[in-house]
Amino acid sequence: MRRILLTIVTLSFLLQVTAQTSDDRMKAYVANLMSKMTLDEKIGQLNLVTPGWGVPTGSVVSKGVEDNIRKGRVGGLFGIFGPDKIRQAQTLAVKESRLHIPLIFGLDVIHGHKTIFPIPLGLSCSWDTALIERTARIAAIEATADGLCWVYSPMVDIARDPRWGRIAEGSGEDPYLGSKIARAMIKGYQGTDLSKDNTVMACVKHFALYGAAEAGRDYNTTDMSRIRMFNEYLPPYKAAVDAGVGSVMSSFNEIDGIPATGNHWLLTDLLRNQWGFKGFVVSDYTSVNEMMAHGMGDLATVSTLALKAGLDMDMVGEGFLTTLQNSLKAGAVTQQQINAACQRVLEAKYKLGLFDDPYRYINESKPEKDILTAQNRQAARETAARSMVLLKNEHQVLPLKKSGTIALIGPLADNHAEMLGTWAVSGDKTKSVSIQEGIKNVAGNGVQVLSAKGANITDDTAFAKRISPFDKPTEIDPRTPEIMIQEAVEVAGKADVVVAVVGEAAEMSGESSSRTSLDLPGSQRKLIEALVKTGKPLVVVLLNGRPLTISWLDEQAPAILEAWFAGTEAGNAIADVLFGNYNPAGKLTTSFPRNVGQIPIYYNHKNTGRPYEGGNPKFKSDYLDVDNSPLYPFGYGLSYTNFTYDTIQLSQSTIRPGQQITASILIKNTGNVAGEETVQLYIRDLAGSVTRPVKELKGFQKITLNAGEMKKVQFTITENDLKFYNSALKYVSEPGDFKLFIGTNSRDVKEASFRLVK
Ligand code: BGC
Repeated sequence: MRRILLTIVTLSFLLQVTAQTSDDRMKAYVANLMSKMTLDEKIGQLNLVTPGWGVPTGSVVSKGVEDNIRKGRVGGLFGIFGPDKIRQAQTLAVKESRLHIPLIFGLDVIHGHKTIFPIPLGLSCSWDTALIERTARIAAIEATADGLCWVYSPMVDIARDPRWGRIAEGSGEDPYLGSKIARAMIKGYQGTDLSKDNTVMACVKHFALYGAAEAGRDYNTTDMSRIRMFNEYLPPYKAAVDAGVGSVMSSFNEIDGIPATGNHWLLTDLLRNQWGFKGFVVSDYTSVNEMMAHGMGDLATVSTLALKAGLDMDMVGEGFLTTLQNSLKAGAVTQQQINAACQRVLEAKYKLGLFDDPYRYINESKPEKDILTAQNRQAARETAARSMVLLKNEHQVLPLKKSGTIALIGPLADNHAEMLGTWAVSGDKTKSVSIQEGIKNVAGNGVQVLSAKGANITDDTAFAKRISPFDKPTEIDPRTPEIMIQEAVEVAGKADVVVAVVGEAAEMSGESSSRTSLDLPGSQRKLIEALVKTGKPLVVVLLNGRPLTISWLDEQAPAILEAWFAGTEAGNAIADVLFGNYNPAGKLTTSFPRNVGQIPIYYNHKNTGRPYEGGNPKFKSDYLDVDNSPLYPFGYGLSYTNFTYDTIQLSQSTIRPGQQITASILIKNTGNVAGEETVQLYIRDLAGSVTRPVKELKGFQKITLNAGEMKKVQFTITENDLKFYNSALKYVSEPGDFKLFIGTNSRDVKEASFRLVK
């Protein structure tokens, strides 16, 4: 035994020494390189540019890129991909710049590179971290095959306001689930060795609180208490740092009156000093320059502010490039501050192995072999099916039979362009599977499919143009809305069942796509109402990047499937679910409001001093005109089978630090088909030194049960699960009574009680 222990101790010592040496080697390499660099070259490393072949998201595109690369005035490029383009740019840097320092190549690989997975909000509804990790792994393999080594993902901004279009890019409203997903994605992207030619450096964004923009208007002000930040908004960023994320992107918004990009408390005190982040921080697109519009001073002032705050790389705006030299002369920044930023950027390149081989990620034979492969498409299809949420299914309208006649109606039913969703910059729309194609593939010849467009996504030409400023405007049919609806109604009349595919255009959510109305555009609502009147069984498939306000639809349609934007394999995956080849199991990660007036609405809210408990009381925290509850709560999602939950059994009713409680529950599949269930554990701290949410997710397990099968699910609760940040921002647990809930969603739960004794 002693010998084993000794071996373990020696091994871990050796490991430490090796780890130290590789870190030391990196530091020595970078120090040596920096000793040869001019000030201009050091500042050059802080400059990230885009030649503008991608989608510029600000008003600026970098000029004179090639010349600046030659002069050593560019640290990295983004917005280009493909081995040939990247080789050209890298060759310029490596062959023609004085010190031959390689460039780092980044891109917005958000939910897949060329094989596009569902939008992140959809992905999160799978509650399947292994699956999500796999999507990031595939994205990394495809991205590196295209010469990239850096991706601007994961986006972990907690969002409780679906008016904000970027809710589509994140994992919803919950910090616990959001943290798990952040870790999974970083593992998938970065693997265990960043220098491998098929792993990429991740960039967690947008640090921080970007999802809390006032009124859901993109780029708007955020303002919140520290206690809310620490308990509710910061955990996923911290989880990313703990998981070893290589880079962080600062956000556009201000925090405590100082834009994140120039916020020393955020980028240095919290991120580096408190959380121990060792990588580099990049600004968002021109967010250094945008501090001028925020009212923080001229370009020199805001660039200085950013550098001093701890920002290392300036995306596109070139404020660092054009002002830091003079600011150094004027004493506004120090050489040490410039060195520190340069060192972090060079260290990232070192970790990626670019100094060993600047062409490491460039291999012309790879795209053919690794991109959009049959396996990747299959993974996308499975993932998409697992991301869909069955919101309603009365009279078992679903699954559909593989016989008879289906009327497939709606502006998104026979469409390729909108399938990929927002932020699929390298996705090829023409390679996506439309729902019409998917239905034919899955249902086979036994089903006759009749189709009609029925409506435009929107009839409003000005709105259609605003949706897609970089692309063709969302198509508007020359026929009148009445004629289109009439045709759809006629087609429906000939069918046994109607499948209506409606929702948003892909770019109605995502960046700069805030909406004040979350209704289906009027054209589509009219179509659905006409289809309801036909009396035919109606299945509504929704494609959208955010919760929509669909109380009316919930009243009228017997079946609703939330399919999000499902990616390259959208059509096949939707058909897999519609025909029951896959029994849907997705669960919402964001509450669906009844109307926009309820926003922000989220399950882990506080109780208030006057909680509403039902009825029509006066002087309670409620509304006169609508219930407090969402239409569909967090964690909600149906299956083609049913699950019953027995009562909760606790191993003990008190817990002390160092101990654990086991909560077990029997779950039975009482339906006729096998199904997956995500069993959710919530906890409520009944009294504390600060007010605590009415419920907080603290665990979940995915199980598969055959028809009639029963399984016991167990959760272990330790003191750690009861901790929170108190008013001194200390992470503590406090003795007292707790409630524990287990259920199929955040609303429908069984409950038990226990006490923490200290
Ligand atoms: C977005 C980021 C993105 C960046 C680069 C910005 O407009 O906010 O999420 O990574 O552009 O494309």
